[in-house]
Amino acid sequence: MPKVRFIDPEGTVTEVEAEPGRSLLDIAEEHDVKLGSACGGVCACSSCHVWVRKGGESLSEMEEDEEDRLDMAFDVRQNSRLGCQARLDDEDVEVEITEESIEAWYNEHPERRHERKLPRPG
Ligand code: FES
Repeated sequence: MPKVRFIDPEGTVTEVEAEPGRSLLDIAEEHDVKLGSACGGVCACSSCHVWVRKGGESLSEMEEDEEDRLDMAFDVRQNSRLGCQARLDDEDVEVEITEESIEAWYNEHPERRHERKLPRPG
């Protein structure tokens, strides 16, 4: 099975094996990786924004909805994807979780804010 390596802005690295066809968000949620999902994974926010460092060409192709939604994200780069839309194939992938995304995750999990290592915004 292909591996997915998540690197978050706090320096936490999580490497897991996952079945092809699953979304990066599903895989993250299954392994307690801090990837935001404010809309519940239906391409209606940008809180699952990641930068794909390796294996991007093997992920499912970006569709128009994802492209439109990414336009509203912060710090969009060539390798930006939405974790709920990008699906794994049979290649290993490495993704960096954006600050936007981990912030959203902490907002969704106020009971875990004590774990936060990022400097407070502002
Ligand atoms: S979780 Fe909202 S767009 Fe991915």
